[in-house]
Amino acid sequence: MAAIPVITVDGPSGAGKGTVSHMLADALGWHFLDSGALYRVTGQACLIEGVSWDDHPAVAEIARHLQVSFRAAASGEILVAYKGVDVSREIRMEAGGRGASTVAAIPAVREALLARQREFLRAPGLVADGRDMGTVVFPAAPLKIFLTASARERAERRYRQLIAKGENVSLPRLLEDIEERDARDSSREVAPLVPAQDAVIIDSTGTSIEDVFAQAMQEVRERGLIGAR
Ligand code: DC
Repeated sequence: MAAIPVITVDGPSGAGKGTVSHMLADALGWHFLDSGALYRVTGQACLIEGVSWDDHPAVAEIARHLQVSFRAAASGEILVAYKGVDVSREIRMEAGGRGASTVAAIPAVREALLARQREFLRAPGLVADGRDMGTVVFPAAPLKIFLTASARERAERRYRQLIAKGENVSLPRLLEDIEERDARDSSREVAPLVPAQDAVIIDSTGTSIEDVFAQAMQEVRERGLIGAR
């Protein structure tokens, strides 16, 4: 039986991975894995359970038994619950991002979430959004996209999103956060943020999301993934 196809979409925060991955999954009728949400929920679960992000064995234990569920709301938005309680809003706040990036640097946490991520691979296919989807989690993926953009543009996009959600944020602070998080995600020893050797690199700086999607779909067609079962 042919392997179930996977498209991996990796890259730094704010490059547009989530939007492009959703567009690809919708266009192809494939499943979707938001691996960042698993790290975000792990960070949030620590706050809920009173576990410090620095207590590595305890954080890994939380990740191993993470009771997380995903559900599509009528609006199409994906709701994320921890132990049945909706944490979608909390995990998307800036503190949620910091927690995710901190716990994601713990090797035992990454190990604990590996099998969990691979469970998302179901027919007819999967679009997997993250940092190490093409390098570690799905190294045999037939299409690996590395989506990037300048730190300034990513900070500006995040600023507009957070302001629209009613968060009180400052652009210079966001830029600093993004640069700090990039450095932490790229320099960690386990599964650092680097493009897979066989990844297609797309730079979305100054490019509309529609253009990025069109470039990605071109790669999908070139690999014969449309209609693949
Ligand atoms: O994609 P995101 O912004 O939701 O990810 C949140 C954090 O989780 C990010 O700082 C890096 C980490 N992450 C990771 O290390 N590996 C992944 N596959 C996905 C996210």
